[in-house]
Amino acid sequence: MTTLASRLEVVGVDPANEAAFAAWHHVYDAAERHELGEVATPWRLEEVRATMQDTASHSWTGGWAGVLDGETVASGWMRTPLLDNHELAEVLVHVLPAHRRRGLGTAVLRRLEEVALERGRRVLNSLASWPYEAGPSGAGAAGPGFARSRGYALALSEVQRELRLPVADESLARLATDAAAQHAAYELRSWVGPVPDELLAGWAEITASLETEAPTGDLALEPQAVSLEAVREREALAARQGRTKYVTVALDATGAMVAYSDLATTEHEPGRAYQWGTLVRREHRGHRLGMAVKVANLRLLQRERRDIERLTTYNAEVNDHMIAINRALGFRPVARLGDFQKRLG
Ligand SMILES: CC(C)(COP(=O)(O)OP(=O)(O)OC[C@H]1O[C@@H](n2cnc3c(N)ncnc32)[C@H](O)[C@@H]1OP(=O)(O)O)[C@@H](O)C(=O)NCCC(=O)NCCS
Repeated sequence: MTTLASRLEVVGVDPANEAAFAAWHHVYDAAERHELGEVATPWRLEEVRATMQDTASHSWTGGWAGVLDGETVASGWMRTPLLDNHELAEVLVHVLPAHRRRGLGTAVLRRLEEVALERGRRVLNSLASWPYEAGPSGAGAAGPGFARSRGYALALSEVQRELRLPVADESLARLATDAAAQHAAYELRSWVGPVPDELLAGWAEITASLETEAPTGDLALEPQAVSLEAVREREALAARQGRTKYVTVALDATGAMVAYSDLATTEHEPGRAYQWGTLVRREHRGHRLGMAVKVANLRLLQRERRDIERLTTYNAEVNDHMIAINRALGFRPVARLGDFQKRLG
């Protein structure tokens, strides 16, 4: 008997092929919006295309289309780091809502797992989002149900939060003043766009530590390699993606970078901004530097970009300090997500 899934052709997608790539992106976009509606945050087509066409030293990204009777109904996406985490592949699978529960997601995932092994990758991570009300384990939601059934275990539970902008200038000024009393020994520096040359080395080091310094739950992750070249490559990619970075760092008395917060806007999504990382080095915690860099960065964004109305952030469920800061700023929870992990035998 021929099953539907066995008729699915899983083929590599060429980001330069307009029609094929638009069909691929439509599946990913529609599947994400089906789960989260208005608070979904799928990347825009141009952002994914620039990523898949990127030839940077630090990572490789590819896409696959699941084609049934000539129509792209499922999609796969893989990223592998190249300078560190040599056993890791990040994978995503999406299926159009009308075509679910017929084994198509499984067929795409099987292909991704084959490719991962061909590339020497045995540790697979996958990120799935679900409605906030479904709770931290995602019981009853599609992504977690699918991931668990395919042998992926929830390793880190996260919450997506959103802040409506602008926050009243007086509130931000008060938060900044309260924090300032405790970080008088540090200097804050803010900028828009690429990192100034004199801060490049410190920036490369502190941002590389985020993945393993922030709570990682049961996720097996190795520290990210520190590379000045990768910083500049990521900036060049951001420019091709249409993204603009807003950054604030804290320097100690010796000029060492000890804290940072960065966020990004994208020309393909007017009105929205995304909080990326915020980190204070362990030895410098307890001086309200987390609040200081985050508030200063938000003030920078509000000064430069009165058109931005929504700021989205993601935090590990257990990251009490960061969540307390976000609450004080007025962020509210809108969705959940989980990092699922599987080790191929
Ligand atoms: C998750 C997703 C890819 C599943 O696609 P699919 O084609 O429906 O998956 P399959 O038919 O291969 O499902 C395989 C098994 O996963 C489990 N599963 C799939 N959807 C489920 C759901 N909504 N609830 C509970 N379990 C589910 C079931 O055990 C299913 O087997 P069954 O249908 O025989 O019970 C799809 O729902 C989707 O695009 N969701 C949004 C994106 C996402 O969360 N991706 C997962 C992270 S990579």
